[in-house]
Amino acid sequence: MKINIAIDGPSASGKSTIAKRLAKILDYVHIDTGSMYRATAYKALKNGIHLDDEASVVEMLDHTEFDFTAQGQLIMDGNLVGHEVRNTECDRGSSQVSRLQNVRAKLVSIQQKITLKKGFILDGRDIGTVVLPDAELKIFQVAFLLERAKRRHQEFHEKGNPLSFDEVYEDLRSRDIADSTRTYSPLKKADDAIELDTSFLSIDETVEKITQLYQETVERLNQHD
Ligand code: DC
Repeated sequence: MKINIAIDGPSASGKSTIAKRLAKILDYVHIDTGSMYRATAYKALKNGIHLDDEASVVEMLDHTEFDFTAQGQLIMDGNLVGHEVRNTECDRGSSQVSRLQNVRAKLVSIQQKITLKKGFILDGRDIGTVVLPDAELKIFQVAFLLERAKRRHQEFHEKGNPLSFDEVYEDLRSRDIADSTRTYSPLKKADDAIELDTSFLSIDETVEKITQLYQETVERLNQHD
């Protein structure tokens, strides 16, 4: 039996890393929905579109093709979306475009179309609340800001990004506020989501915990069949 899994949580809480590992173990397809907001910001910036200009960003999306590889990797206009959207500009830009209601509507509709079948793990901010309200397993993954900033700073450091720890911390803090206070689909735990604090859990421990929750969910569903 295959189900759909929703993983939501704040920036740098490790959602994508965990979702990727889980997808491998369970033979599921992982879709990182944040990469769609990042790719939107990336293309808008490249085209000189102001990220607060909703009509122009939507118009751009009308002429943008999103696709996914069999493994769930995002393809925009025929090109695999990769490291070019993983930088401070796209961190901030994606948070900005994610506030726009009509941008969200477009991206959510694409996400819902590809998950009509089961067997997907989606990570984002509104998966359990908006994109997949019927997901059989919903995780709300949190971690203290300080821990998330340490992880993100280390990641940046390994990639040669010179941002200081304080800058990374401040950037995450302001994105937390923006993502959870925006009007449309703010970051919010779904009522039926399981909250998982990963502040002091390793990646392996987190994956193990969710795998256990997954097995319990499938067993429970099988009993009801
Ligand atoms: O998960 P991430 O850091 O790659 O996400 C980038 C931005 O996109 C983040 O600031 C919030 C937004 N986002 C969103 O609003 N809804 C989603 N489902 C995924 C991401």
